[in-house]
Amino acid sequence: MTNVRIERRADIAVLTLDRPEKLNALSTALEQALLDAIDSDDVRTSAAVVIAGEGRAFSAGADLTEVRELGPAQIAQYYRGSGRVYEAVAALPQVTVAAVHGYCLGGGFELALAADLRVADGTAVFGLPEVGIGIVPSSGGLARLVRMVGPAKARELVLLGRRYDAAAVDRLGLLTDVVPAGGALDAALAVAAEAAAQPALAAAVAKQVIDVATESSHAAALALERLAYGMLNQVDKG
Ligand code: COA
Repeated sequence: MTNVRIERRADIAVLTLDRPEKLNALSTALEQALLDAIDSDDVRTSAAVVIAGEGRAFSAGADLTEVRELGPAQIAQYYRGSGRVYEAVAALPQVTVAAVHGYCLGGGFELALAADLRVADGTAVFGLPEVGIGIVPSSGGLARLVRMVGPAKARELVLLGRRYDAAAVDRLGLLTDVVPAGGALDAALAVAAEAAAQPALAAAVAKQVIDVATESSHAAALALERLAYGMLNQVDKG
């Protein structure tokens, strides 16, 4: 598959954005390849999924040669097509881990935020340049960022367009591990293996409960977590 490589490392699926000559800019072709990869048997039968980037970046964001001329109707159509990929990643039942090195900008950052967990190495450079080019992050990243770091920090990241290293992003609570340069993929594989060792159904249900809890009342979240407990408790744990 061009643009995205799929490999299995035991029960972990590794999806590598593979457009290094353009710093893995997220063209519609690359996004579609990632959607196709998510639907592949290698991913369907995996216990956890790692998303990484080939070359010197995780991803430099939306392909700027494609986004320039889009009108409102085309943008709506885009999010019914390859632009669905960010939500498709977020909806995977398996635990997903983004292995970030190099540039992780714009849509690349949004893709990393759509994963359950993120690790980054010493080369990582995060940022949201969208407002600086007259648009806003719109692939779920802005909404996720507000929930994950709160509106105050989200404003800083979105409105100033600054770049942040892994240590700064870790201080925001967004990273599971920060590792030395060159170590992102191995660290992500280790985290994915840790997640993959957990009972799959309980992890998948926990992911759904966390999603609902981030946007519902305490009472609704409580009811759901207890229903989930009741359902999971019927599963033979032997
Ligand atoms: N869309 C399309 N192509 C991109 C791209 C993007 N978002 N980011 C990088 N590329 C391409 C460059 O055009 C260049 O292609 P070329 O060799 O055919 O000219 C190649 O990737 C390498 O990028 P280059 O700019 O030469 O690398 P650099 O190390 O000097 O700079 C960046 C790296 C990330 C700072 C710079 O590429 C950049 O600012 N990219 C745009 C980032 C952005 O605004 N993304 C969010 C969009 S909402």
